[in-house]
Amino acid sequence: MHFKTMRAFLPLFGFGLLLGACSESVDGGAAQVSAEANYDTTLTMQELMLHVLEPAADGLWSTAGWVEDSDGYRELYPTTDEGWEHVVASAAMVVESGNLLTLPGRALDNDAWMIYSEGLTQAGFRAMAAAATRNKEDLFQAGADIYSVCSACHQTYDPEINSRFTSD
Ligand code: HEC
Repeated sequence: MHFKTMRAFLPLFGFGLLLGACSESVDGGAAQVSAEANYDTTLTMQELMLHVLEPAADGLWSTAGWVEDSDGYRELYPTTDEGWEHVVASAAMVVESGNLLTLPGRALDNDAWMIYSEGLTQAGFRAMAAAATRNKEDLFQAGADIYSVCSACHQTYDPEINSRFTSD
């Protein structure tokens, strides 16, 4: 399941934005972030999103929840240990993705950007724990939380992204 389909999927289960408290506006200017290591931030934000964050999140969104198709309702959750371990790994990548966003050269400010990035990492940890204990409901909730963080950050920094995803 991709970011754009996740958007259509969530309201079905009644999830709203969970991070309302984080959505205060920021002053737009990029804050000074000190660089003490040689981080290579050559990947653009767009590449990071498309090739790192989205695949990481997809690794758990695609196996969390239920779909309705011609066979009726079907569970998407893993049915094997290997499948669950894949979700644990995807969640770990979401955890680290949050860190990648905070690197000097990437972070757009020291304020809301950092809150969203940390929120992504924390939701990733919840997904990891849920997958490790095979807890489907917690995994679904953590997946919804991850989605909410993605959307909230886009809403703050590039609202065009969310509207782009709803219109197709
Ligand atoms: C800390 C802020 C932040 C978080 C968290 C975040 N994004 Fe983004 N995302 C952005 C910004 C900024 C852009 C615009 C990048 C650009 O086009 O320069 C973007 C763009 C995107 C795009 C569009 C890329 C394109 O084709 O232009 C996708 C897809 C995306 N993000 C997916 C995700 C997913 C999935 C998550 C959560 C797992 C996520 N993002 C979390 C800030 C964030």
